[in-house]
Amino acid sequence: MNVEAGGLLNLTQIKKHWCVANWKMHKTPQESVEFLEILFRSTPQFAHCQMVICPQNLLCPLVAEKTRGTFVLWGAQNCCTKSFGAYTGENSPRLLKSLGAKTVLLGHSERRILFNETDDLIAQKVEICTHIGLIPILCVGETWQEHCLKQGRDIVARQIQEGLKLVKKNNTLDSLVIAYEPVWAIGSGKIPSLNVIEEIHQFIKELLSSLFGNMKHISILYGGSVKVENAKLLGSSQLIDGFLIGGASLDVQSFLKIAKILEDCK
Ligand code: PGA
Repeated sequence: MNVEAGGLLNLTQIKKHWCVANWKMHKTPQESVEFLEILFRSTPQFAHCQMVICPQNLLCPLVAEKTRGTFVLWGAQNCCTKSFGAYTGENSPRLLKSLGAKTVLLGHSERRILFNETDDLIAQKVEICTHIGLIPILCVGETWQEHCLKQGRDIVARQIQEGLKLVKKNNTLDSLVIAYEPVWAIGSGKIPSLNVIEEIHQFIKELLSSLFGNMKHISILYGGSVKVENAKLLGSSQLIDGFLIGGASLDVQSFLKIAKILEDCK
């Protein structure tokens, strides 16, 4: 496949500890530029923490231009299962790659719940991304009801096994980021106890190594109400490689503080 911007990229070329801003459907071009200008002015080059911005689609070219050649990477919040063609309204992973995207969020709970994305569809998106050289950030996590029924592990196991089934079959997985995001923690201000998060992260680690052997280029992030106030507790864990941040990533100062805390913890 002819992909214009760069070849495959793996986590040996970028850092293991990620601080990912999921801007969701927020920010105008002007707000995005202001955010990035402050970020560049205030951030020293981090040795451990990789900052990644995931803007909404229409902001991608602008964020691509402003971050080119800097220490900040960017990714999309979703993409199509096909690289190009007659898919009106879709978001081409080939175009994202050619604009300089490094990563794509896939299977975010808002996509699963509000837009009916299935494990099968997500598996196809993971496959096209790895084929094109975009690192998938596969989001997994249980709802509150599933949590109460103690089904967290089963749900996460299913979402990972199903989401990765095509890359496993075709042996195309080079680098992977998993974001464990309990649905009930997203935007709620509540997080599970550190113990619970660590148990699930350990479980994910073991599951991935049983599926792929000891794949080196894996990061396992936590997401769901990450804030300045809880970043140290979470970032100090050996089992948490970084964060996927929604609400707190919209404010540049709080995003910066969280990234700095992660940097200091690793
Ligand atoms: P939150 O969102 O940090 O606002 O909880 C996280 C996410 O949806 O990825």
